[in-house]
Parts: sequence; C-alpha cells; structure tokens
Amino acid sequence: MSTAKKRYKRVTTQTLVEMKNNGEKISMLTAYDYTMAKIVDNAGIDVILVGDSASNVMAGHETTLPITLDQMIYHASSVVRGIERSLVVVDLPFGTYQGNSRSALDSAIKIMKESGAHAVKLEGGKEIGESITRILTAGIPVMGHLGLTPQSIYKFGTYTVRAKEEEEAKKLKEDAHLLQELGCFAIVLEKVPAKLASEVANSLSIPIIGIGAGGGVDGQVLVTHDMVGMTHEFSPRFLRRYLDLYHEMTDAFMQYSQDVKSGDFPNQKEQY
Ligand code: KIV
Repeated sequence: MSTAKKRYKRVTTQTLVEMKNNGEKISMLTAYDYTMAKIVDNAGIDVILVGDSASNVMAGHETTLPITLDQMIYHASSVVRGIERSLVVVDLPFGTYQGNSRSALDSAIKIMKESGAHAVKLEGGKEIGESITRILTAGIPVMGHLGLTPQSIYKFGTYTVRAKEEEEAKKLKEDAHLLQELGCFAIVLEKVPAKLASEVANSLSIPIIGIGAGGGVDGQVLVTHDMVGMTHEFSPRFLRRYLDLYHEMTDAFMQYSQDVKSGDFPNQKEQY
C-alpha cells in the first residue's frame, strides 16, 4: 500500500492541493471501464481520468473528436462503480462546452448527474473562460487542460510539442494563471517543454499534472493502455511502458487457440 493510500482515505480536489503544498507528487491514470478502474484505484492511484482518449483507445477513432457525451457518461459511470478511493475526473467531449456557457453548464450537469464522477476536465484557456466560470458556479469542480489539447488537433495540424515559441509560451502562462483565478482545482499540461511546465507549476498554487511536461510539475498522468503496453503503435518519448501486455496477451490468445484446436482445453479438471 502506498503512503498516499494510507494517508488519504478518499482523494478530493482539496487533497490534491494539500499534496502540492506538502510536496507530494500526484499520480493520475486513465480508465474507461469498471475492471480497469478497480485495479487502478486499488493500486493507490490518486486520480482516475475518464479521458476522451476513450475515443482512440476504446473505439478506434483517429482523434478524440467523435466521442459523444452519452458515450463519456457510459465510460465514467462504469469507472465510478469500480472505485473506492480515487478522485474521478471526466472529460467533457468536443462540442459540448465550446459553443456557449449555457450549453457547457448543461453538459457538465448531465455528465455529473448521470455518471457520478467528481469533476470535469475541459481543454483550453481564455476562450472557454465563460464556460468554466458558469460550470464552477454550479459547484462542479473543473480541471483545466493546456498545451497540446487533442480536441483542437485540426487547428494545430500535428501532435508535436506545444509552446516552444515565446508567443505561445506566454499565452500558455497567461491561460494557466487565468484558470487558477477562475477557480480550477488543477491543470493538465500536455506535451510542453519541461522548463516552461515547471515555471508554471512553481508560479501557481493549484497542482499542475503533466503528460510529456517533465518532472518539475506536481504530478503525472499517462494513458493506462499505453503504460501497460496494450497499445504498441504509439511510442512518444514521454511514455514509460511498465508492461508489454500487447505481446503477452497475443501469446496467451495464441496458446488458447492452439489448446482449443488440439483438444487440450478443457481438460478433465476444467469441466463438470
Ligand atoms: O483524454 C485523455 O486521456 C487525456 C490525457 C492524455 C491527459 O486528456
């Protein structure tokens, strides 16, 4: 059992700020279903993100854009049923909060009511400030997401590192400060230079959780299917693979097929 697991019986948005103040790093992983959420929660991971990366990982879409609010509710409610301790944050999917703040609030209320998640995550800075404010006034905790924001992939054109140039770095810093002022409880910073990410983390009181943002931030997030090696086509520099499940599962499936075809499975003990 991890120290964090013993110290915090249930992780809340306040716990994360406390962790930052105590210099304790925050661990965050994705989950999209009950079984995975149960394992991740039991391992003592602080935050479970029901990411819209479900669009890629679960549904096989090229981008995160196609996933719907109802599909995110399905994934998030499955995750919530599997957890005892972790804070569950769910992504508001593309098109459900950018239009106007009223529809953003409706989306956030629907996903919170129907999934049981504890907070929502939204991609963007100043341009979605009004939506963030309106969601927060309903008492819904909001996590921000800056840097590489995959819902805007067609604007960026590529998944390369963001904010390498001065102008974009300046906007990112301004946006991060704005998100804190508006009342976000934490921010995900994706694929930005480590120096910039650590500057942002040091200048804010809310936790900064990085993915491809170096070690100078307050916590780390990875897509679980990537870190356990279930996916294998995708190998960005920031990804540490802890398992090679793609190959281990392939071997198991091949062995099973062979056992079925040879009549080895089931044996005498495996039947009634
Ligand atoms: O959708 C997702 O999985 C994410 C993480 C990559 C931060 O937003």
